[in-house]
Amino acid sequence: MNLAELKSTASRLMAPDKGLIAMDESLSTINKRFEPLGIPLTEEYRRKYRELIVTTPNLGECISGAILFDETVHQSTADGKPFLDVLKEHGIVAGIKVDEGAVDMEGFPGEKITEGLDGLGTRLADYYHKGLRFAKWRAVINITEHTPTAPAIKANAYNLARYAALCQQAGLVPIVEPEVLMDGTHTLQRCLEVTTEVLHAVFNALYEQRVAFEGMILKPNMILPGSDATLQDEASKIADATVQCFLRCVPAAVPGIAFLSGGQEAELATERLNAMHVQYEQVLPWALTFSFSRALHQPALEKWAGDDANVKEAQDILYKRAYLNNLARRGEYTPDMGKH
Ligand code: 13P
Repeated sequence: MNLAELKSTASRLMAPDKGLIAMDESLSTINKRFEPLGIPLTEEYRRKYRELIVTTPNLGECISGAILFDETVHQSTADGKPFLDVLKEHGIVAGIKVDEGAVDMEGFPGEKITEGLDGLGTRLADYYHKGLRFAKWRAVINITEHTPTAPAIKANAYNLARYAALCQQAGLVPIVEPEVLMDGTHTLQRCLEVTTEVLHAVFNALYEQRVAFEGMILKPNMILPGSDATLQDEASKIADATVQCFLRCVPAAVPGIAFLSGGQEAELATERLNAMHVQYEQVLPWALTFSFSRALHQPALEKWAGDDANVKEAQDILYKRAYLNNLARRGEYTPDMGKH
């Protein structure tokens, strides 16, 4: 493992004020986003949408890394420039989602296990050769009255750790993403408890599999009440619970934490990230930033809706969301900024 190279990539990804853009939706996920907007579910429309994102003027001022889906790695702009070259010109590090999705976990009703370890070493070597420098693997944990179970947490943690070890061996920084879903009626406290248990299991597994904490990035959920919970806590409480959880669970050797948005409204995700910096900037041992998909580009996707005539306006909206999240990373965002 070349730890110096991994540390240098991680530090580029965690550059001050910047964050990551996740544009790695699988075919089924992007179809779910396109369908309600009447966007054709074709490779060409996925290419057009990804072109809109990567050609957004000045994106590299706010974004340090872009997580791609395999199809996107091989695509180019309408005038033939590979997306990887466009990202390079922006100074954005290209990364790749390498898990093959979460499937039902046999014997554990309602729980999922993420697949994709078979042949992963070879795929990673190929991505490194193509110029990609980091990867992502997402595990999914569902909170219900009966879940998550300890075996499901353990199995997902183990797979995340094996994936991370293989990434480091191949020269790619692993983004380790254990996502505790927002779906449900559970309280903020229950999300705190489950996420704490999951993160302890994940860091134990990473340690056992000899992953270098200095050469990885954690991509977690924020600690939130369930999306159908009656009490929706304010940003300051969410910041308290989230930072408390990570201070307890995430070693200081980890260079950075980059949140997923998980279906939160774009403005709320920004407000909550901002609150963490306002309240805790002085005590954070790691960079704390964003790696959003929906909270960064859903508003732009809705404006574009598959129509070439809307590209410029959609790019303005995307740039603005990225910029506001940069302010949030400094604790300088106020909700009224999102409104105009
Ligand atoms: P969201 O920000 O939409 O949750 O997506 C982030 C991601 O990469 C999910 O794997």
